[in-house]
Amino acid sequence: MEYKLADQLKNAHPTAIRKIYMYACDHPEFLDLSIGEPSADTFPLKEIAEASRDMYENNGKVALAYGPYAGMDDCIDEIRKWVERRGFDMTNEAIEMLPGSGHGMDNMANTFCNEGDVILAERFAYPGIQNAARMVGAKLVGVDMDDTGIIIEDLEKKVKENPRTKFLYLCPSFSNPTGITISNEKRKAIYEIAQKYDFMIYEDDPYSRLSFDGDFKTEIKKLDTDGRVVYAASLSKIVSSGMRIGFFICNKDLRQYLEMSQGNAGVQSVPVMLTVANYMKHNDIEAHCRKVGEYYKKKADCLLECIDKYFPKSCKAITPKGGIFAWVEVPETLDLEETWDELIHANVGVVPSFGFSSDPDTIPGNAFRICYSTQPPEVIDEAMKIMGNLLHSKLD
Ligand SMILES: Cc1ncc(COP(=O)(O)O)c(C=O)c1O
Repeated sequence: MEYKLADQLKNAHPTAIRKIYMYACDHPEFLDLSIGEPSADTFPLKEIAEASRDMYENNGKVALAYGPYAGMDDCIDEIRKWVERRGFDMTNEAIEMLPGSGHGMDNMANTFCNEGDVILAERFAYPGIQNAARMVGAKLVGVDMDDTGIIIEDLEKKVKENPRTKFLYLCPSFSNPTGITISNEKRKAIYEIAQKYDFMIYEDDPYSRLSFDGDFKTEIKKLDTDGRVVYAASLSKIVSSGMRIGFFICNKDLRQYLEMSQGNAGVQSVPVMLTVANYMKHNDIEAHCRKVGEYYKKKADCLLECIDKYFPKSCKAITPKGGIFAWVEVPETLDLEETWDELIHANVGVVPSFGFSSDPDTIPGNAFRICYSTQPPEVIDEAMKIMGNLLHSKLD
């Protein structure tokens, strides 16, 4: 049958990671540092099992029934206590539970964008925002960045050039894909530009609690006096990615619209919310985050040592201070696509920068994202040795 697909889907292109996945499926020896997923070793399995058992024993009928759209109060209350402890002023704010924070991007685009509107994002950003823009016919415009993140002057320039800008998408802490964390000064400047030109900010924050050294930058939401920041966070990198649980913090007046825009897909599972509520009641989630941060720090240190040992000096890694990604810039003379192909055939999976570019054809970038979260040190070492040798053969 010839399916009469919607235009939005016809424009979709398979992600770079999909190409690696297809190859890796047939090659069990593949050394995969491409997929941006948390290590299941960091999930609090015993505690979640206890929380789940307790929920079914004591609250089983509630758990198995429909719940409210915004999410179960028990869970929202625990999330509220957590973010208040972290200094969020919740006086004018509401929380809405989500089936993962990725879902929040779709809600945001559905809520604010008509066809032809503009979403701004750092030049290299999480591909989920490209999908969210495409599905509502919005245009994604990339803002230039350096190794301190988005460039403020270019943000202002792009807003002026695009008067239909509805919101800026930003992952300001330990970003996917670059691992970069935006400084407090820059966060303030970004908020001031949003006020000056009257656009919203979608602050995507799945990684900030995974700091290596306990340094937490101020969330842009905490600077928000107008209700123009929608803050989305996720428990995928902390408690479980499979349970699919995340949440919004947004102005109380806005919540109803974000909720309306989620259509049929956005309602969170009641047993998941109640399990997480139980988990948070009986465990210190911040202490758990610290442990997860320490776990990833060891992996990051291992990766950076290997890059230092094996890569040509003309390749430069941005040192992450948390999260699960490193970004390695290579000389512009290197053919990125060809190198990537050769790496895949040498059984090494990393993702080239064009996989994250808002404009891959004209600004593909000259970097690779390397995810160190799941592989043991010996696999990281072997993969980086192969990659380093290939880079030497092309650059020396
Ligand atoms: C920057 C960023 N935002 C959102 C998500 C989606 O996470 P979730 O599992 O909460 O949907 C991811 C997942 O990798 C991510 O890297």
